[in-house]
Amino acid sequence: MTGEKKRVEVCYSPSQWHLYKNNYEIAVVIDVLRATSAICTAVENGVTIVPVSSVEEAKDYQNKGYIAAAERDGQIVEGFDMGNSPVSYKDPELKGKTVVLTTTNGTTAINIAREKETVVIGSLNNLDSLCKWLKEQDKNILLLGSGWKDKFNLEDTICAGAIADELIESQKFFAEEDSTIAAKFIYRSAKENIFSFLKASSHRKRLRNLNLNEDVKYCLTPNNLTVVPILKGDEIVAVNLEVEKA
Ligand code: MLT
Repeated sequence: MTGEKKRVEVCYSPSQWHLYKNNYEIAVVIDVLRATSAICTAVENGVTIVPVSSVEEAKDYQNKGYIAAAERDGQIVEGFDMGNSPVSYKDPELKGKTVVLTTTNGTTAINIAREKETVVIGSLNNLDSLCKWLKEQDKNILLLGSGWKDKFNLEDTICAGAIADELIESQKFFAEEDSTIAAKFIYRSAKENIFSFLKASSHRKRLRNLNLNEDVKYCLTPNNLTVVPILKGDEIVAVNLEVEKA
C-alpha cells in the first residue's frame, strides 16, 4: 500500500466511457438487471463465462460446440441454449463448463472495459466481497454502469453508488466527479428498499412485463454471493482461480 488515497469514480454508461477512462487501473462492470448478476451467479457455481458483444459471435461459438446464451431486450434469442436469467446459471449440470454469453448491454460494456489492466464484475449480489477485494488492491477504480442502450439507468447507478460509498468511507479512496457524488446519494436514498425504489425504473418495468419479477428480486438481493469474477483473456473466472487459469 502506498498510503496515498486512490480515486474511485462512476461512469453511468458505455457512451461516456471515453470521458472517464484515463488513469484507472481497474474497471468494475455493473449490469444489475441482469447480466452481471447472472455472471456472478455462474462463476460462483463454477461456470466460466466468455462474454461476446454480438449474437453472431455467440452463434459462431455455438456452431463450434460451445454452450451459448443470448439475450436481447430481456428475452432469450431464438436458437440459443440459454438467456440471461441468473437463476438458470445455478444449474449443477453447468458446473465446470464454459458458457459463451451475449446480452443487450452488459457484455458490450465488459468488452469496452477490457482495455484496462484489470476488469472485474460487480453486482449487488457480490457487493461486500467485491468491496473488500477492491480495498485490498491499492489501485484507481472506475465503476462502469452498463446502462440501457447507452443511456443512464437507476439500478447500475445504485450499485455503483454502494461501492463508491463503501470505498470512500474506508478513507482509502476519494472521488471528485459529480457522477460519483450523485450515485452515492441515490444509493443512500434507495438502500433501505431497493426493490420499491426501482418500482418505476424502465428495466424493472420491462422485466415485469416479461414475467421476470423473480429474477429482479434475486438481482436486487445484496450479498447472496461471495465470488469476485475477473476477466482473464477471453474468460471470466473467480479471482481466486485466476492464477490456476493464467
Ligand atoms: C443487458 O445486458 O442489458 C441485460 O442483462 C438485459 C437483461 O437480460 O435483463
